[in-house]
Amino acid sequence: MSDDNLAEIRDERAKKVQHPKGKLTAYERIGLILDVDSFSEIDENVSSDANPDGEAVITGSGTIHGRPVYIYSEDFSIMGGSLGEVVAKKIMRVMDLALEARAPIIGIKDSGGARIQEGISSLYGYAQIFKKNVQASGKIPQISVIVGPSAGGAVYSPALTDFIFQVKDIGQLYVTGPAVVKTVTGEDVSFEELGGIEAHGTLSGVSHQICEDEQQAFDEVRYLLSFLPQSSEQKPPVFITEDDTEKTVDILDGFIPENRNQPYDMNDVINNIVDDGEQYPIHANYALNIITTLARVNGNTIGIIGNQPLEVAGVLDINASEKAARFVRFCDAFNIPLLTLVDVPGFLPGVEQEHGGIIRSGAKLLYAYSEATVARVCVVVRKAYGGAYIVMDSMGLGADKLFAWPSAEIAVMGAEGAVDIIHKKEIKEADNKDALKAKLVEEYNDKFSNPDIAAKLGLVDKIIKPSETRKVVTEAFKELVNKTNLGDKHGNIPL
Ligand code: HXC
Repeated sequence: MSDDNLAEIRDERAKKVQHPKGKLTAYERIGLILDVDSFSEIDENVSSDANPDGEAVITGSGTIHGRPVYIYSEDFSIMGGSLGEVVAKKIMRVMDLALEARAPIIGIKDSGGARIQEGISSLYGYAQIFKKNVQASGKIPQISVIVGPSAGGAVYSPALTDFIFQVKDIGQLYVTGPAVVKTVTGEDVSFEELGGIEAHGTLSGVSHQICEDEQQAFDEVRYLLSFLPQSSEQKPPVFITEDDTEKTVDILDGFIPENRNQPYDMNDVINNIVDDGEQYPIHANYALNIITTLARVNGNTIGIIGNQPLEVAGVLDINASEKAARFVRFCDAFNIPLLTLVDVPGFLPGVEQEHGGIIRSGAKLLYAYSEATVARVCVVVRKAYGGAYIVMDSMGLGADKLFAWPSAEIAVMGAEGAVDIIHKKEIKEADNKDALKAKLVEEYNDKFSNPDIAAKLGLVDKIIKPSETRKVVTEAFKELVNKTNLGDKHGNIPL
């Protein structure tokens, strides 16, 4: 923190407003997120007629794990952290500096939105910030931490950033507050119900991470950054690992249940592939049928996308498709290789999904994989059926290396559905329909529910022993180490 007198006076005054609300001050937050004593404030003396002692945001730079970052922290103790012309100028300046320095930008959000007294100028300020968020998208990591109200215009800047961290009880996002909701729709809803962690961490997926308190959020931002490069022009930092990359994990050989419809936890597979079983799930409480997580293999960051059989059999629906698509695009923009672990019975059928736009959402995931130029390794663990097989980084979409466990079932559709279609007449005419169907299902499974045909067609590089997955994946990424072209590729549009 700055040791300047002005900063101390401001902070003392802010404590009186923030602490009774169970919130930290803008300076305290900066102190907790950055490396100790690394903060260097900019625009410290900038003020306005409304706030001659300083405006409602603190801006500057510092380091996290020794690497530069830029930061702004909204000061709710000054006019509710509301955004007027001067606040907007300060935020844009620090964003410009981050872009020029090619370093991440972190926004700590605690604001009542557009400053009502400044009218249209506040809206203009927001518009300029949104545009800058978009200009920075895919070039430098942008992170938002919601530690207070994020109301009205204050929601859209976080929504344009790559990651939103939201803190329980104090962090709430909503375009219009409960009073307006009541007037327009007649619904009675609290701030927390409308825009708290349950609303956005679990239901809407607006927030990527939900945290118990501010300290946890700041620790997690620091941890997240350990996986990320400074910008699209760099690779992520490499760590030295003690975890043997040659080791085999014998329990994986008997891991897949004999009953092909029995679920298992894909996290167990992931933990046995990545260094020290360490991973950082993104969107850990949203669209649980797909896992998106950051981890390291051989000390290098990878992004993992895995179907989760524990949750609606790992089926792909609208939310899962969009969650995965944005993750793939983020990783591609920031030179993070992708590992896809497939066990997917298909897209979720139903009127709700069709009318909700599953076609458009599935297309987003197809688009994301198809355009990704980072190294892409795919392992088919069990089911890979139909369109969902294609979309989960199949060879046709451009996977660089595609492996299959012996339990892999790569087919146009599951046996039951397939038999019903291709043997419709025979089954209809049979005396014992059930017996015939069971026999045909068995025959279909013997013929198609394995990786052999795909391997013969060159659509699987190798059928591997599950116990050797870590070794095989490590080797594949080593081979592909120079595949990624560094530099700006595309933005990370909210999907
Ligand atoms: C000016 C504001 C303000 C705002 C809060 N304040 N929001 N001043 N413009 N948008 C001031 C309050 O007047 C008060 O000043 C101080 O900040 C603290 O506010 P309180 O209400 O006392 O705090 P609290 O009870 O914690 O409630 C916080 C709050 C509430 C939930 C954020 O203030 C609120 O509902 N504010 C309005 C939120 C909103 O509707 N924003 C949308 C703005 S329009 P004093 O002097 O009394 O301490 C917008 C349009 C853009 O953003 C749309 C783009 C898509």
